[in-house]
Amino acid sequence: MTKPPFILAIAGGGSTYTPGIVKSLMVRLADFPLAEIRLYDIDGERQDIIAPVVEKVIRDHSQSIKLTVTTDPEVAFSHAHFVFAQMRVGQYNMREQDEKIPLRHGVVGQETCGPGGLAYGLRTILPMVELIDLVERHADNAWIVNYSNPAAIVAEGVRRLRPQARVLNICDMPVAAMRNIAAVLGVDREAVTVNYFGLNHFGWFTQVLVDGVDRLPQLREHIARFGLLTEDAAATDPQHSDPSWVKTWRNIKPLMDHFPEYLPNPYMQYYLMPNQIVEHQNPGYTRANEVMDGREKKLFAAAAEYKKTGILPDAFHVGVHGSFIVDVTRSLAFDLRQRHLVIVENRGAIANLPYDAMVEVPAYITANGPEAVTVGKIPLFYKGLIEQQLACEQLLVEATLEGSYEKALQAFTLNRTVPTMQHAKAILDDMIAANQDYWPQLAQAYKEGI
Ligand code: G6P
Ligand code: MN
Repeated sequence: MTKPPFILAIAGGGSTYTPGIVKSLMVRLADFPLAEIRLYDIDGERQDIIAPVVEKVIRDHSQSIKLTVTTDPEVAFSHAHFVFAQMRVGQYNMREQDEKIPLRHGVVGQETCGPGGLAYGLRTILPMVELIDLVERHADNAWIVNYSNPAAIVAEGVRRLRPQARVLNICDMPVAAMRNIAAVLGVDREAVTVNYFGLNHFGWFTQVLVDGVDRLPQLREHIARFGLLTEDAAATDPQHSDPSWVKTWRNIKPLMDHFPEYLPNPYMQYYLMPNQIVEHQNPGYTRANEVMDGREKKLFAAAAEYKKTGILPDAFHVGVHGSFIVDVTRSLAFDLRQRHLVIVENRGAIANLPYDAMVEVPAYITANGPEAVTVGKIPLFYKGLIEQQLACEQLLVEATLEGSYEKALQAFTLNRTVPTMQHAKAILDDMIAANQDYWPQLAQAYKEGI
């Protein structure tokens, strides 16, 4: 086992999430000692804006931790013990395209769900594999803990291309839901143990245990009135208190009004009620705009203010996003076998889904990686939904690897948010035009097909 203090690299150092993650690391230093933090980004300019903020966050807690800021993978990864990956290929500008193009065709415009998520997947799989190769070249045996989206597609791409890689794919959505669940029940998040099955951003809580008692019945009553929010919405963390997120938590109500058996991941709203979602989306101003005008602008302004005055305004998110990645990494580092919801190869955990599907289930996190709990058979309704989504995502991965227009069109058509093959084609063709720099092979395949 690797010994502390650790060297940790953050790939995607210029992310709006970086200061929050570093703050989470700082408040947990006693449990997870660090010798060095390295920020690595291919966009050095953006990273240089964020880096002084990160430095300040570190120095408020430690004088001894070294901070390295680099665009050189060798500097970033040599002898690193852990790498946090949070790349956003195409940055928020391309997220905006991912959201607005489908909306122009009356289809859900979302970062990770529907055609937007598929387009983002097409951009991200190969750069993610490149990152894995760089880490493997320079650091032996480092674990990569990966937040990069769209996580389900990234996980499937990595499984196909680098099956042996030490990558643990994670998402903070289940744990964010657990935070709200705990708030509704009036207990600590740590006191809640859940059972859950699905794919990333496509799953259900089947049990919510507190002291061994399933509290889902009580939650159902609350959700039937308020959705998955306490009456005081602002009690959740700053990110998930934005109006669009509040709406999302409230939408757990209609979802459970129809299917009360299990508590859905909030992202199920895009697949099960796409029409209402589209009705309430503004095609000219999507979540990407909200984030650019909100989280990003606030952080850049804070960085500028800090540079000018030496005073750092509190402008970044610390919440489950940061604490979850630290929890998972600690469990990997110290073989704690903590139970967390993560993305793993199925291998029979969900008995009636394909053995090699990348599923999201509870797992014990050991020094050798996650060990999934046995879920057993899932009911036909959920199995059917998941299989369609899985086929869609797997086809998308194949489209990326083969540069196949036909498979991309099949993937878009198979997505539940897309009503017809004509919608799929129109959206895909617009996506190809917007992604020329990212999908040269697919663009070529498309041209040759005409
Ligand atoms: C949740 C999801 C992430 C997603 C994020 C988007 O945390 O788990 O996968 O990227 O929401 O949030 P944003 O505030 O950027 O819309
Ligand atoms: Mn996620």
